[in-house]
Amino acid sequence: MIRLTYISSIGKQATAKDIRAIGAVSEENNERDGLTGVLLCFRGVFYQIIEGEEASLYRCFDRIKADPRHRDLFVLNVEKDIPERMYTQWKMKTVFLDSEEYPLVMPIRNLLDSLTQTHRVLKQYAPYEVLDGLQNGEDPLAWEFKREELIVLFSDIISFTAITEKINLAEMQELLGAYFGIASEAIVKSGGRIAKLTGDGFMAYYPASQAASALQASLEIIRKLKKQRETTVSPFLKLAYCGIGLSAGSVVMGNIGADTRQDYTILGDVVNSASRLESYTREAGHSILFDDRFRNYLEKSPTIIPILQLGEQTLKGKSKTLTVYTVDNADVRFDRTPEEITREIREI
Ligand SMILES: Cc1cc2nc3c(=O)[nH]c(=O)nc-3n(C[C@H](O)[C@H](O)[C@H](O)COP(=O)(O)O)c2cc1C
Repeated sequence: MIRLTYISSIGKQATAKDIRAIGAVSEENNERDGLTGVLLCFRGVFYQIIEGEEASLYRCFDRIKADPRHRDLFVLNVEKDIPERMYTQWKMKTVFLDSEEYPLVMPIRNLLDSLTQTHRVLKQYAPYEVLDGLQNGEDPLAWEFKREELIVLFSDIISFTAITEKINLAEMQELLGAYFGIASEAIVKSGGRIAKLTGDGFMAYYPASQAASALQASLEIIRKLKKQRETTVSPFLKLAYCGIGLSAGSVVMGNIGADTRQDYTILGDVVNSASRLESYTREAGHSILFDDRFRNYLEKSPTIIPILQLGEQTLKGKSKTLTVYTVDNADVRFDRTPEEITREIREI
């Protein structure tokens, strides 16, 4: 038997009558399916605990997940191999905690509020793999290193050091908000994931089969930044450029750090190459660069994006020479050199 606990936001349209109807259907179905548990409703949030045999519980949970009367469902815990039930006499006890008068409900309300707040923050900061693992009832802290084939993408803002010397807080927030807004929309929409934010940049990754999507997203970021430079009134956004480096192949994914602090991250030569290529964009004069390994993956995922070979290059810190490529498109060529960007920033 397993016990599953999740929270979700009560849908805007779901009235108390609807929730009572959910309770009634649940009692009937759970009786049939051998499930027991409790459904708490409090300040727009459902907290549900369901227990029973794994197969029938997950069948029921699939229906629950697809139910439009709630959203943002997040599994908090899956207890496997539980020896006995906790809620033997409740097929699905539905409790409206907002209107409950019983004094013991007060600390429960407090705890639930804290849980929701912690979860809201965790969801924003924790790596996707960690959140996925929690959803599957795993303990991410116990994970060992594993190998994966991925597309890795690095991006950061050009001349950010010069920007930091001139910019005020509100302008910094505006600049980073605009850049990360454009980038994360393009990455997420195309099936990528942002693995790490690095102040003025980020690392993202895609499954190995999605090289074309990664390149398409890179182009979209460059084009949207260009459009923004042309339309904004902010002097810093007018000079907001970024470089993007892409590589692909086998990486190591896993927990790094010590007991005091851990991070779940991606490591390996592919990561270093993508990062070096990103830095090399300034010298190369093209805002998107990739290596032969990425190109090989690109050949397996059809795209109509024209590419251009720039030649052999030994990147900083690397022993081997790489063949460097870019997208053959005018938007991808920098229309200012990094020195010009820095000079203009200093003149703001
Ligand atoms: C928060 C929430 C909790 C639910 N809990 C259960 C449950 O424990 N058991 C159940 O069968 N359905 C539950 N449902 C309802 C299912 O989503 C689904 O509507 C129902 O199982 C369909 O039953 P039917 O096929 O008999 O119409 C829940 C729905 C919501 C929104």
